[in-house]
Amino acid sequence: MIEQNLGLQLIETHWAAGSAVNLSPLDLTRLRRSLLHWYNSEGRDLPWRQSRDPYLIWVSEIMLQQTQVKTVLPYYDRWLDQFPTIQYLAQVDQQQVLKAWQGLGYYARARNLHNCAQVIVREYEGCFPSTLAEVLRLPGIGRTTAGAILSAAFDQPVSILDGNVKRVLARLTALSRPLNQAIKPLWKLTDQLIDLEHPRDFNQALMDLGAICCTPRSPDCAHCPWQFSCQAYALNLQTQLPMREPSAPLPHKAIGVAVIWNNQQQILIDKRPEKGLLGGLWEFPGGKVEPGETIEACIRREIQEELGIEVEVGDHLITIDHAYSHFRITLNVHHCRHLRGEPQPLESDEIRWVTLAEIDQFPFPKANEQIIAALRGEGI
Ligand code: ADE
Repeated sequence: MIEQNLGLQLIETHWAAGSAVNLSPLDLTRLRRSLLHWYNSEGRDLPWRQSRDPYLIWVSEIMLQQTQVKTVLPYYDRWLDQFPTIQYLAQVDQQQVLKAWQGLGYYARARNLHNCAQVIVREYEGCFPSTLAEVLRLPGIGRTTAGAILSAAFDQPVSILDGNVKRVLARLTALSRPLNQAIKPLWKLTDQLIDLEHPRDFNQALMDLGAICCTPRSPDCAHCPWQFSCQAYALNLQTQLPMREPSAPLPHKAIGVAVIWNNQQQILIDKRPEKGLLGGLWEFPGGKVEPGETIEACIRREIQEELGIEVEVGDHLITIDHAYSHFRITLNVHHCRHLRGEPQPLESDEIRWVTLAEIDQFPFPKANEQIIAALRGEGI
């Protein structure tokens, strides 16, 4: 305990002197050299690293924005089989793009890729732009993604600061503030560190260092190429850094969801409005349970409001808990029977009656996939 307090005092002093850590030119050279040497033997062999085609690299970077490499790999291969070029992607239907993305989450990424492809065809004759200013103007591309693409595709010295890199730098410098209170000095540090002669390999190496060595819970300091310079290691604070921001529990919403059947064994589904969460995806209709309301009453009310029809609420089908980035939901799903009225898309873009055999043609959010599996009698 005493040792740890001492450590924290030391890092306060270390950072109090200014808003950034100043590494000497000699430190910087040694850090670059040791990282590139490590990457040569330990770097991962990933499919997008075998190409310099900006399209292939751009797709990988967007998929990797909030998703781990092992999850991305099968989606990446399938995507390139389906949409092999920017031109091809630009002219397909958005529903096809969302279907290819189904299960990866954060669907704005897929809509942005599709929109971006159309912008690139229109404004850049189908060639991915190669300046930072142009790339930053494309929808869905921020500074880190731009740096990752420009360095990997064109070997340009544009630095990156993703979650892994922030953690590595926070440990390297024993950062005494939570990450999001130090974004500016962290950018300054990654700008200082980048190897101007080998920016592509440097950025890829930095990502790998965070992903396979300087991991969140049990960093492998014994094999770290930056151990010699790491302030967190010197203070034995590597597992306590980066400092955590106190986080509020995620708000929770209970949702009543209807699987509405007609007499032809068809189910009513609706397409969410283009703008907003999960825009363009299909779902089973329903909505938020109001205080004091039963699930059954909620479903009857929501279906009247959303579709203008009356339903009889029947058996419970499944209850699904799902966490999004900023809230959690519980879907309380019931079978329902269509009683009266012609369904209308009052709060959605489109509605369809579909059979269980047809339903796979439509892109659904992940939480809804479990409803489909339950309807087929499959456990998930
Ligand atoms: N995460 C984001 N970009 C990446 C890349 N190019 N390689 C591995 N992981 C990544």
